[in-house]
Amino acid sequence: MTEPSLVARITDFANRADPYPLYTELRRTPVLHEEDDGPYVISSYWDIESLLHDPRISSDAANLAAAGADELNQAENTGLPPSFIRQDPPEHDRLRRIANSAFGPPHEPRRIDDMRGELHRIVAELIDGLAGETEIDLVDQFAYPFPVTVICRLLGVPREDEPRFRSWVDPIVASLDPETRQGADPEFARKAQEARTQLGMYLAGLVEERTKDPRDDMLSDLAAGKGPDGAMTMMEVLSTAVLLLIAGHETTVNLIANGMLTLLRHPEYLQRLREEPELAVNIVEELLRYEPPVQLVPQRTCITDIEVRGVTIPKGSRIWLMLAAGNRDPERFKDPERFDPDREDLQHLGFGSGIHVCFGAPLARLEAQIALAELARRLENPRLVADPPPYRPNAVLRGPRHLPLAIDGVL
Ligand code: HEM
Repeated sequence: MTEPSLVARITDFANRADPYPLYTELRRTPVLHEEDDGPYVISSYWDIESLLHDPRISSDAANLAAAGADELNQAENTGLPPSFIRQDPPEHDRLRRIANSAFGPPHEPRRIDDMRGELHRIVAELIDGLAGETEIDLVDQFAYPFPVTVICRLLGVPREDEPRFRSWVDPIVASLDPETRQGADPEFARKAQEARTQLGMYLAGLVEERTKDPRDDMLSDLAAGKGPDGAMTMMEVLSTAVLLLIAGHETTVNLIANGMLTLLRHPEYLQRLREEPELAVNIVEELLRYEPPVQLVPQRTCITDIEVRGVTIPKGSRIWLMLAAGNRDPERFKDPERFDPDREDLQHLGFGSGIHVCFGAPLARLEAQIALAELARRLENPRLVADPPPYRPNAVLRGPRHLPLAIDGVL
């Protein structure tokens, strides 16, 4: 029997609940490349960090398409031009700068800080909705609806339109999951496509309204473009809005679900979080290292030959950067397999690094900190019903499909 390929081992569903022994094995070879047209797999912290900062490595969607096989890079298929996550400088930088000015100045994301009260209200409402239940699914009933409501408020979608907006987002997000995609159910695909068209038309209408009559919301700022780079075109605003929606959805769901699972496996920290809610800051940072929602970045190609630890990676090759393996690299972290929010050096690759470092990180951090602190405070005696819980098949965006918990009630 032939050995399964490298790509097959990384994507193997059998590794989903605990991929870390495989990552330990991958780290033994600095540059792994097994199949002629397969990706070059990099798993150690310092190599990943350095390649994420290397201008010879491209994120351009066109370069990736030219590099051929594309096992994990399911195109978002929005019918819109590529958003800045799939572009290189200078276009990437121009669009990200405009988006940044709509978020608030860099390193001082005013709009996010202003949302603190709103995030508390959304979390409180979702937890109130669990009252009277003795078994809940933390994914379906809490983590999944949370980020889409947050993005609606951030962009400035009117409250009365939120249910409609959500009814389009659900099939789109579900269609990004390889399991449902490979299911190739034509009815499902038709619904997702229809939802994309309707969401696009809805957002276009809203951008037009906000251009004529700006309000204090992110869509108005994107369309107005007050900074030195001017405004985005209508298509660029739409691509950016959809990017925020998609990049900020499943990632946040997984951070909250992985977070609660990890806390229930380390009950001493759940107890401490109840008593010291400010510990949520360290807990979330350590979670981004220990159980990162984005396990690998598979969207990179080399625009020239490059040498990594004595291996020449030829121009045009695809590179997979294994963030979650780097996060447990013993050359970088002391005792890397231990969940330890008290470590002095709370660094990680959970948000990537370099020019594409997560744009939504300030929001994602705040969402997860408030969600986990409030869940710890208000869920009475939460217990895992299944350990491990059932996982989603996705190897890139890894997290539980469901997280059933038994509870005695909510406070
Ligand atoms: C980029 C992780 C939440 C928006 C990234 C990247 C990672 C990441 C690893 C780098 C991708 C690359 O290098 O190709 C996460 C995680 C999140 C999260 C773990 C939640 C826990 C969010 C949220 C938003 C967001 C809430 C938006 C509101 C973006 C955008 C980019 C990005 C726009 C592209 C940045 C660029 O290309 O310059 N994210 N993300 N993310 N993220 Fe996040």
